[in-house]
Amino acid sequence: MGGRLEGKHALVTGAARGIGAGIAQRFVEEGARVLAADIRKDQGETLARSLGKQASFREFDVTDPSAWQQLVKEMSDDPIDVLVNNAGAVVSFASLHEVDPEEWRRIVDLNLNSVFYGMRYMIPAMIASGKGGVVVNMSSIAGSVGIAVAPAYSAAKAGVRILSKGAALAYATQGIRVNTIHPGLINTPMVEEQPQWATDGFLASTPMKQMGTPLDVAGAAVYLASDEARFVTGAEIAVDGGYLAQ
Ligand SMILES: NC(=O)c1ccc[n+]([C@@H]2O[C@H](COP(=O)([O-])OP(=O)(O)OC[C@H]3O[C@@H](n4cnc5c(N)ncnc54)[C@H](O)[C@@H]3O)[C@@H](O)[C@H]2O)c1
Repeated sequence: MGGRLEGKHALVTGAARGIGAGIAQRFVEEGARVLAADIRKDQGETLARSLGKQASFREFDVTDPSAWQQLVKEMSDDPIDVLVNNAGAVVSFASLHEVDPEEWRRIVDLNLNSVFYGMRYMIPAMIASGKGGVVVNMSSIAGSVGIAVAPAYSAAKAGVRILSKGAALAYATQGIRVNTIHPGLINTPMVEEQPQWATDGFLASTPMKQMGTPLDVAGAAVYLASDEARFVTGAEIAVDGGYLAQ
């Protein structure tokens, strides 16, 4: 394979490790130039170096709207045409009545507000470039069904799902496509760091009885970012071993 994203310039957030790193890798393999953005500077720089001259790294906090504005300004001569809003985290496995309101705001800020900021500032630049663009937003199985132990995260991921459909409708005639990916249990550092009981529970509920890999998710992102998906907008792709089929 190769060349499916030739000529594209992509921004992948949360790309220092896990799913984002897998997406950055596959995008480069398919010919895209990739700006990997993350708060993890050392890991992000190492990742970008390993991907060669088509990749670069920027220390970037997706929850900071001024960082998005600055990025768009700096890139006005070489605009981004594929935005992958991947950065996110479950953060806590507490029941609703145990969640502190400040923690709720932090989780929603990271998983939902960041996606709004990304689209809010990058879509006008994509339209102004005259080339249009593609947005791929990382939701989750948790954005489509209730998760008893991750109320803020699942509410935020459900928000990403519907926000994306609205954006798809709003910009459909302006050359902008917006879609979501809904991963199930994927073997990443985030999952390695979460409580074993949570991983065991998701695994038991996954029809294929195995975890996916970052490259499984990256395959869906390559498709959505490519011109093969030119008639696909407002859609959801589950990469979940059958979880959402239940
Ligand atoms: N792994 C799974 O099972 C799974 C399932 C469904 C959805 N997802 C989603 O996929 C995405 C990637 O998850 P992952 O498992 O690869 O997680 P991960 O923790 O392994 O990687 C996430 C990356 O995002 C970065 N990040 C965190 N906060 C950031 C911020 N404010 N600004 C910029 N970067 C930031 C982290 O530094 C990290 O490099 C997340 O949105 C997650 O919710 C993951």
